[in-house]
Amino acid sequence: MLSTTLIDKLNAQITLEFYSSNLYLQMAAWCDTRGFPGCSSFLAQHASEEYQHGRKLFTYVMETGGLARVGAIEAPKADFASVQDIFDATLAHEIAITAKINDLVKTAMNEGDFSTFNFLQWYTSEQHEEEKLFRNIVDRIRVIGPDGKGLYWIDKEIGKMGKKDG
Ligand code: FEO
Repeated sequence: MLSTTLIDKLNAQITLEFYSSNLYLQMAAWCDTRGFPGCSSFLAQHASEEYQHGRKLFTYVMETGGLARVGAIEAPKADFASVQDIFDATLAHEIAITAKINDLVKTAMNEGDFSTFNFLQWYTSEQHEEEKLFRNIVDRIRVIGPDGKGLYWIDKEIGKMGKKDG
């Protein structure tokens, strides 16, 4: 049985994962209108993954006797300065999500809720992978450079990463 504190924190995380999904979908739309189909497809695919992260938490709360609740989801930012701006924002976002997951893990541990602690290990590993993925993209953008030709290759590369890693 989940404590009220954990139910509230898990529900907040559900809402945050759905927000992440909307954020990446919005970024996909920006990339699409600016002529970056590879980035757009990668981000849209990632949006679906974030939705699944939220659903997995939602199911866990229900299975554990809690009331899963989706909170208000604010509209994500829709305008960005560049592809680099987008991926800098994704990395910062993932780092913030990792902090939230770590807080959940700490709470489960402090409460001696080892079932939830164990369940959250999947998210801990996932956040490691997500930060690695977005850090890798940010590094590639820096190395290749922001001129026209560079951006063309970045888009192609990121499109391929979506198929492989996303
Ligand atoms: Fe669900 Fe990208 O963290």
